[in-house]
Amino acid sequence: MRYDLIVHGGTVVNAEGSRKADVAIRGGKIVAVAPGLRREALRPASNGASPPPPQFVDAAGCYVIPGGVDVHVHLDLPFCGTFSSDDYDSGTRAAARGGVTTVIDFATPTAGGSLEQAVETWLAKAEGLACVDYAFHVCLTDWPRHRHELRRMVKQGIPTFKQFMIYEKQGWRARDGEMFSALEACHDLGAMLLVHAESADVLTELIARRHNPVDMLKYGARLHAMTRPNFVEAEAIQRAVTWAKATGGRLYIVHMSTAEGAEIVAQARRQGSDHILAETCPQYLVLDDSVFNRRDGHLFACCPQVKKPADQERLWRGLRQGTVAVVSTDTCTFTIAQKAMWKGDWTRIPMGLPGVETMLPIIFTHGVLRKRLSLTQFVDRCCTSPARLMGLGHRKGRVQPGFDADLAIIDPDHRIRVDHRKMETNADWSPYQGMVLAGFPRTTICRGQVVVDHYKFCGTRGQGCFLRRELPAAV
Ligand code: URP
Ligand code: ZN
Ligand code: ZN
Repeated sequence: MRYDLIVHGGTVVNAEGSRKADVAIRGGKIVAVAPGLRREALRPASNGASPPPPQFVDAAGCYVIPGGVDVHVHLDLPFCGTFSSDDYDSGTRAAARGGVTTVIDFATPTAGGSLEQAVETWLAKAEGLACVDYAFHVCLTDWPRHRHELRRMVKQGIPTFKQFMIYEKQGWRARDGEMFSALEACHDLGAMLLVHAESADVLTELIARRHNPVDMLKYGARLHAMTRPNFVEAEAIQRAVTWAKATGGRLYIVHMSTAEGAEIVAQARRQGSDHILAETCPQYLVLDDSVFNRRDGHLFACCPQVKKPADQERLWRGLRQGTVAVVSTDTCTFTIAQKAMWKGDWTRIPMGLPGVETMLPIIFTHGVLRKRLSLTQFVDRCCTSPARLMGLGHRKGRVQPGFDADLAIIDPDHRIRVDHRKMETNADWSPYQGMVLAGFPRTTICRGQVVVDHYKFCGTRGQGCFLRRELPAAV
């Protein structure tokens, strides 16, 4: 067989193990993973492109891993009185540059709107702009009105739904009864419910106690952390876990940030509830709430907020043990000007951080190089498990014949100092500014196209495809 592209001489890493092998690609798919593939087997370049696309990528000394699968991003999201500033252009360029070849966003209905309309709106946001592949979860913001659309969504390749236990003002909050019956519906359909778990009423009470000029002047952005103690997340996770156990519905806790949460999920799984899953994000693994003491501390406000070093370590342990199954980013970028909307009132800070461009480097550097994760665990939590658990396990997340040719080629010795001025995200700041990270891909390949070459984005807008997903894999 003739190939379009050969990745030569690298160490191929899958979730089960690693070995020296070449990777051959044809028609956007991986067609062979074997040592000794020969340059002569390449097809003559005939598409007249100038310059012709590279056909032979030397990966000697590098790891060749599946492209990252970031199952939690918010691109162009209307939120906190503005829109998250990375859209499908900058957001997916950032993904590619960070070695992420698939993103899953959240189609969120407008007030009174249907799930179908939300999906159409999100498809239009991505149309012609996406540089990597993408899919959507759909947010159930109006239950039970949205209930009748679930089956159709699953048929259309959207088998994962999300509810928020907070965000009353946005009109997104789901109450316990709604979560309970959404979990039942997910159980019936083989779908999965993603839940943002924070305790709305206690949070509202804690915020109200501090929402006065004296405290705001005295504590500034620190109030964001002061009003969200760990029990705000832990209690909500406990409740969601209770309803998942009662209904048998598959539950996936998004952006888990606390040691207590990690413990609750681990315990449920130990007791046999392996339909209860959780993800965490780089910000909860490498940042702590001392950032709010900085003069620009308000920039770091995200929801839930970053916690303490002890939480970080517990989350790393969960990742190592697999009770935290996935790393995602919750990318929800706001510029310095957008963050300035707070004007001293922490409840008005647009909440969210950039992240997709730095996910693999942060987990590689702080996980693999610091021996908190093995190389194969890194690949599993950032690529294989997210793909599998979100219904993409048939085509994404593995370097294996038959799979999409999505690869990140990482030179483990090459370090880059994070500098927002040199990044693809349109954030004009970075939570990780100045960090020296290994694990940026030297080359990223998305369905056979080189989209990052020598650490620089070289892909094409509109090349990314909408992915219809299967039912989430059995766990
Ligand atoms: O701060 C965050 N995470 N913003 C995005 C919305 C959410 O809750 O995921
Ligand atoms: Zn959330
Ligand atoms: Zn989110």
